[in-house]
Amino acid sequence: MELIIQRDKEAAALLAARIVANELRANPHAVLGLATGNTMEAVYRHLVRMHREQNLDFSKCNTFNLDEYVGLAATDPNSYRYFMNKHLFMHVNIKLENTHLPDGRAADLGAECRNYEALIARTGGIDLQLLGIGRSGHIGFNEPLSALRSRTREKALTPTTIKQNAPLFGGEDKMPRRAITMGVGTILDARRCLLLATGEEKAGIIAQAVEGPITSMVTASALQLHQRATVIVDEASATQLKEREYYRWIFANEPEWVEYR
Ligand code: GLP
Repeated sequence: MELIIQRDKEAAALLAARIVANELRANPHAVLGLATGNTMEAVYRHLVRMHREQNLDFSKCNTFNLDEYVGLAATDPNSYRYFMNKHLFMHVNIKLENTHLPDGRAADLGAECRNYEALIARTGGIDLQLLGIGRSGHIGFNEPLSALRSRTREKALTPTTIKQNAPLFGGEDKMPRRAITMGVGTILDARRCLLLATGEEKAGIIAQAVEGPITSMVTASALQLHQRATVIVDEASATQLKEREYYRWIFANEPEWVEYR
């Protein structure tokens, strides 16, 4: 795992966006795994700007999002499809038919999950998976006790997650209790994983995920098993990391990061 500390939220999001953009420039047919949440808004803002200013081309890529709430239509402003259209897809030259999210309104949710996995495989697998982290330590909606080999499936949300996301819905009673999410195993199959966390409220969970034991109680910790996982944090999210100075040295000295410094 690589850990990169950036001075603030903006710099961290910009670095994540540059890594995604470079992936796309190196391979215009890249399959991108995408994430939602406040943290990702700044990343997508930078990608939209790069599209406008630097002709960053999305026309040949495919995207697969991590998750979607069960029961929400694409037109619902709280659905992740709506979020993706609003923050990224509507502002770049991506073909909407190449953008994929699980359908939380499918009549047969089990079949929807199996089909999602099959479609990822048919498209060639995910080249770069973008990830946020929830306060429960989840990646996607892989809540505590999610099997580390799990595949796309329906998952009940924890009280922590419901509390975290309920304000967007105008209260806990209005929020779905279930979601479809890629499994931890699905995420670990991506050729590269890139997790972004910013703000002091993520400092504790980031320390657990990066420096703590691999445990299904903090599914982000499963990234320790991945051969190419990069975690980008801002100073506020880095405060509880014990090996901060080591991570800073690596980023400042390893040749692979020279273009990003
Ligand atoms: C939701 C998503 C996660 C995301 C998390 C973080 O729960 N399912 O994939 O990582 O939000 O959200 P935020 O960036 O708003 O803290």
